[in-house]
Amino acid sequence: MAHDIATTTRPSTAAVPAGPAGGAPTALVTGASRGLGLALARALASDGWRLIITARDAAGLAEAARQTGATALAGDVADPVHRDRLAKAAHELGGLDLLVNNASTLGAVPLPPLAAYPLDALTDALATNVVAPLALIQATLRGLRERGGAVINISSDAAIGAYEGWGGYGLTKAALDHLSHVLAVEEPGIAVWWVDPGEMRTRMLADALGEEEASHAADPATVAPFLADLVKRRPGSGRVTR
Ligand SMILES: NC(=O)c1ccc[n+]([C@@H]2O[C@H](COP(=O)([O-])OP(=O)(O)OC[C@H]3O[C@@H](n4cnc5c(N)ncnc54)[C@H](OP(=O)(O)O)[C@@H]3O)[C@@H](O)[C@H]2O)c1
Repeated sequence: MAHDIATTTRPSTAAVPAGPAGGAPTALVTGASRGLGLALARALASDGWRLIITARDAAGLAEAARQTGATALAGDVADPVHRDRLAKAAHELGGLDLLVNNASTLGAVPLPPLAAYPLDALTDALATNVVAPLALIQATLRGLRERGGAVINISSDAAIGAYEGWGGYGLTKAALDHLSHVLAVEEPGIAVWWVDPGEMRTRMLADALGEEEASHAADPATVAPFLADLVKRRPGSGRVTR
């Protein structure tokens, strides 16, 4: 599988940042109760990261916290009050070294053509997939700047490919790509990567394609090390394809 990085800013020479007083670095991972977010939280925990994790389902998130030692805060990233809680938790831990905007929605399911796309579902998808990531970046940027941190925004090939039915979801990911690209230019002191992780057998893919077709895709546990390695290698900001 191709691994390419379209570098938009100069590569950083910094290694994985140390936390306060040389302690463990801190990451916030959204959508960490299952799928790619849980797999990445596990990978980062085993690399020694201190984690804050979030998702709406409190029981699933508590199990993820048990596996990773993370601080779990259940809630909806589209809710500004919940985002304030996440930002406060990050601040209390001394600021973030890494923000992973992974939580995402497909929007309307079954995937409708744009001609029939329900606009309330599109508005909700934009709130979760675009507005919430930017709001979390804004809320944690001061600490990220101070610590020379990094942002990973999880994108999709649907951001750049014109796939029938994927227009609503795809346009949210295209917007996420664009905001990432501009952020990378505006914030040269941090690394910003917008990552297409490739197809993975998760609930999201099963909801889109059905269980049988999704079952042939990659296990997210095999994708997470690619992201953990990206953080360690710390290339310059850019779009990354697994
Ligand atoms: N699977 C693929 O083939 C594929 C391909 C390309 C890109 N991606 C991207 O990969 C990322 C991870 O997706 P996945 O496949 O791992 O999906 P998944 O298994 O459905 O997991 C999604 C995670 O996000 C959480 N979440 C969803 N909406 C949320 C909200 N409003 N607030 C807080 N948490 C929320 C979910 O928990 P709750 O439901 O409990 O909130 C869950 O923990 C997404 O950005 C997705 O777009 C996936």
